[in-house]
Amino acid sequence: MTHDTMPFVEAVKHRRTIYTLNKTAPVDDKKIEEIARTAIKDVPSSFNSQSARMVVLLKDQHDKFWDIVRDILKVHVPEDKWEHTGNRIQGFHNAYGTILFYEAPEPIKKLQSTFPQYADKFPQWSEHTSAMHQYMMWCALEAEGFGCNLQHYNPLPDQKAAAEWNIPLEWQLKAQLVFGGEEPGSREKLQTKSEQPIEERLFIHGAA
Ligand SMILES: Cc1cc2nc3c(=O)[nH]c(=O)nc-3n(C[C@H](O)[C@H](O)[C@H](O)COP(=O)(O)O)c2cc1C
Repeated sequence: MTHDTMPFVEAVKHRRTIYTLNKTAPVDDKKIEEIARTAIKDVPSSFNSQSARMVVLLKDQHDKFWDIVRDILKVHVPEDKWEHTGNRIQGFHNAYGTILFYEAPEPIKKLQSTFPQYADKFPQWSEHTSAMHQYMMWCALEAEGFGCNLQHYNPLPDQKAAAEWNIPLEWQLKAQLVFGGEEPGSREKLQTKSEQPIEERLFIHGAA
């Protein structure tokens, strides 16, 4: 099966967390943009809030983001722990791109005042909305042949990233999806995906 024809459920099955990535790209940047546009346009949001914001950083811009994270971490991480942390950040740096997933607060606030009976639920649904965008991008990039991993270095880089890419400071950074070409053998040493018995986690009633 070629990657560009991988059906959705196959992409779901194929998706893994891949850390050993490189700066090759199986598709061109236009294709990445097309997928990101599809996510913003077609992934649902709670009450159609359309609160998700994505900032796609490629090549030198991706490098710049991980330089920012590394420089901040260097200040916080003790010297004797730095090797591990530094290697981890270098692994992300070695990849091709990173997508920053934000949620804009304005649409959420509006919904809270329009539907006060759900006011306390909207922040949680905003997290769900972001997660849907993250997962869609993860599977879609995998379907194109990229390897990906999902990171949460927020809020460390928030201010510097906002200044660097002209991102409104009130947007909330939720996650970072790192993607790139897969180093040969990067899937072979992965643990089995699902270890807890499915029968203990899935319950179907009423099927023929
Ligand atoms: C909500 C969520 C948060 C995650 N956060 C991180 C993270 O911060 N760092 C990381 O390396 N992996 C993170 N992961 C990846 C999981 O550890 C990984 O998906 C899980 O162990 C299953 O492995 P698989 O992705 O290869 O199927 C996250 C995954 C999810 C769904």
